[in-house]
This record gives sequence, C-alpha cells and structure tokens, in this order.
Amino acid sequence: MTDNAIKIAYYDNTDSTEKRQWWQACLSDRLGPCTLVPLTEEAALSCEFALVWYPPKGRLAALDNLKVIISLGQGVDHLISDPDLPEQAAIVRLVDPDMSHALSQWVILAILDHLRDGPYYRKMAEQKRFEGRDQRQTRNLPVAVYGMGAIGLEIARRLAGLGFDVSGWSRSERQFPEPIKSAHGRTGFENLLASCDIHVCILPLTPETTHLFDSKSFAQMKKGAYFINGGRGKQVVEPDLLAAIRSGHLAGACLDVFATEPLPADHPFWEEPAITIWPHVAAQTNPDTAAAQVAAAITAAANNQPLSNLVDKKRGY
Ligand code: GLV
Repeated sequence: MTDNAIKIAYYDNTDSTEKRQWWQACLSDRLGPCTLVPLTEEAALSCEFALVWYPPKGRLAALDNLKVIISLGQGVDHLISDPDLPEQAAIVRLVDPDMSHALSQWVILAILDHLRDGPYYRKMAEQKRFEGRDQRQTRNLPVAVYGMGAIGLEIARRLAGLGFDVSGWSRSERQFPEPIKSAHGRTGFENLLASCDIHVCILPLTPETTHLFDSKSFAQMKKGAYFINGGRGKQVVEPDLLAAIRSGHLAGACLDVFATEPLPADHPFWEEPAITIWPHVAAQTNPDTAAAQVAAAITAAANNQPLSNLVDKKRGY
C-alpha cells in the first residue's frame, strides 16, 4: 500500500478479494496508485469515493467525507433503497457499452431460444429423438422493449436488425431511430401489452415500475406471449406471472432477476419448465471495460467537476 494512494471504499456482495484486486489494478492503471479498502473495514470511514454493489444498508452513512458513490452496475436501486444514504454524496451509475452489448446478446439468446424451440429440442435430444416441429414464422414479429435507456436502445436496435417489429416504451414521449417504433405512458404501455408477442423488461426499479407486471398486465398480453426480464425482479408480481404461465395464457418466461436473490430453493419458478432461470448474469460488470468510467468519475469528483451518468436520487435512476 502506498501512503499517497487514492483510497476507494469497495463492496460487492460476492465478497471476492480477487474481484477487488482486479478493480484495484484497473483503476491504478488509470489513476495512479489506488487502494480499494473493503467498505466494512475501519479504514474505509475516511474515504471520499465508494465503489459498491448492494452495500450493507446504513454503512455508507458512516463515511463522513464521501463525495461520490459509484454503482458497480447499471442499476442503482441497491443504493436508493438505503434510507440512510448520505445526502452530500452524488451517485453515479455505470453506463458501459460492453454491458449493453452483453445484455442485448442475452435478450437475443432468450428470444431465439424460445422462438426456435430450444427447450423442446434439448428435451428431444435427451431422449435421442431426431424429430422436427413446424418452425414459427417470426418475420416482423412484434416485440416490446420496456425501458429505453442506453441498454434498451441497443437491444431494440439489434432486434430490429434481426427482422423483428420493435417498439420501445419509455415513461415520457421520445422518438427512436428508424425502424424502432415508440410508445410511452400508460396508454402506450397497454397498447404494447396487447399487440406484442414478446415482452422484454429492462426498466430501472422505481416506485412506478415496482409490480408493473401484475395479473392485469399479463392478462392484457396476447395468448402465447413470452416475457423476458433483464430489469429487476420486483417489477414482476411473481405469483401472477406463474399463474399466467400455468393457466396457458403466457407461453413462458426467461428471467435473470428475481424479487429475492439468490432465488430461494423452494421457489415455484424452479419447478416450472416454461420458465428459464438465469442467476442474474445477463450482463456482468467487467472492470477492464468499466474502469475508465469509474476513474473519470473519481477524477471529476476529486476536482469538483460535473459528473457523467449522475443519478437523479428523486427519480431513482
Ligand atoms: C445489473 O443488474 C446491473 O444493474 O448492472
């Protein structure tokens, strides 16, 4: 440890020393000598900068000199939900093109696996049965992407490139590049529920998006629609999703996020063959690509300069 090293309080819920060291190396390359101090240690109390993912609630309030809290992911609900978040500290979230890339690939995988009957053919292969099914006609299939930030836009753009008829939904009115259609507000939301075959949620978790997908929303979807969640688990009323699938109204779902993570062993989703479960890995933060942004935020905060990707604490993202 160098005496004049920049000290950054660090926490990620995997408690991995290797990850912390990886970040430390990537940030030292950009900022000069840096020490990532575990947030739970006494030495973190004097840090001006924090780099965190799901930190223990109330802990950041103990850092009196804190200038900026940098989320280790794109979502910041893990911070906003802390009632004792220090007022004076700004929050910055990651907007890493590498993560948009990864998440859009995951969505494409989920959609194509469903449309090309991946689960069915894997089951057939287990039984050594070489039997085809009629291929679905998917040209111009309507797909809705709920949440059109940097990631949603990338997903929509790539899905349009694959020949889907893509609509992006945002809270307030926006226009997206051709051929992506736009929808907004409650009316736009309900129109997309009723008209699309595939629904991709990529929204940030806010009071408005909590439980947005409930029995009413699922009932408004077409029979046979497919639901994909790469946003946050709490946006879905999980028993309502299960009921919509079990009744045969929805064809199934592919989920990366859950109301409780890790998904409890006795959760009924594990038993539902029409639900594909991923353990919140659709887009993992990569220090090699994200470190430039973290370093820029630290440099700006240290020099009292404007921060990029600043979170509006009231809006929640
Ligand atoms: C992942 O869920 C993220 O918010 O980056």
